[in-house]
Amino acid sequence: MEARWNLVLLLLGLLQLTTGNPVGNVIDLDAYFEMANSSSQERVVGGYDVPDDEYVPYQVSMQFLTRSGKMRHFCGGSLIAPNRVLTAAHCVNGQNASRISVVAGIRDLNDNTGNRALVQSYEMNEHYEELVTSDIAILKIDPPFELDGKRVGTIDVSSNELVGADQEVLLTGWGSVFHFGTGPFAKYPTILQKLSYKTLDNAKCKQTMTQLTDTEICALERFGKGACNGDSGGPLVMANGESLKQVGVVSYGTAFCASNSPDVYTRVSMFDAWIKERMA
Ligand SMILES: *[C@@H]1O[C@H](CO)[C@@H](O)[C@H](O)[C@H]1NC(C)=O
Ligand SMILES: *[C@@H]1O[C@H](CO)[C@@H](O)[C@H](O)[C@H]1NC(C)=O
Repeated sequence: MEARWNLVLLLLGLLQLTTGNPVGNVIDLDAYFEMANSSSQERVVGGYDVPDDEYVPYQVSMQFLTRSGKMRHFCGGSLIAPNRVLTAAHCVNGQNASRISVVAGIRDLNDNTGNRALVQSYEMNEHYEELVTSDIAILKIDPPFELDGKRVGTIDVSSNELVGADQEVLLTGWGSVFHFGTGPFAKYPTILQKLSYKTLDNAKCKQTMTQLTDTEICALERFGKGACNGDSGGPLVMANGESLKQVGVVSYGTAFCASNSPDVYTRVSMFDAWIKERMA
């Protein structure tokens, strides 16, 4: 079963088909956060804590303002300009922008010293089709983040070069550390996780992830390592000389995360022009 990696994908009862915006399932974040315990947060399976003194400056946490007034992590994103965040379309599809904020400059979700900006508006790619293609969106945020070179910085997305197989890539996120992101035995740490693994040839990926298109890129490790619920929208990056560039946006995978099937990412290089047009 292929599934989205937002927090709530396994609570199928909460998914509702949207009426006004017929491009896929809209997640009922109110219902999700009313059911989940306030301490629950989720992260990458089989990865490592980002060390104490280290930050992933382009990584942001997208947070939802619950009815009880709490800000809760539900998706990842990346800072591509001081006032622009790149994420997955399925993270924002049908959501009320004024209830979403993004936090930069933290590795621990409980760290209150991060910078928060409000989402003014979002734009999903016009070709977005759930579990098929173009799962990418851009948020306009305000106020713009101040880049400090250590805790808060942007990631380069300005390449249209095709990334091939066997490239070393780095995933970061606060998604589930368990194969399932929900359940009675789940324990949810709050430290940002990172996982290095490798890209996979699209043809090979398509053998398992049969709906795969050229607008996507896959990565795979062994059983027990991979992206999971809560990582959605977050960045997959690789080395580009001395610096880094973002090559993927966490999109989907199997419902049983890190089960030796590939993680599917939106292939950022295919959206180079689309992103550039939305930076100004
Ligand atoms: C949340 O915690 C309460 C008590 O600590 C427990 O009764 C409840 O089942 C938990 N809910 C979930 C969704 O885990
Ligand atoms: C969006 O959320 C804001 C703030 O909670 C609220 O005032 C507004 O009515 C909501 N808009 C819609 C269309 O639900």
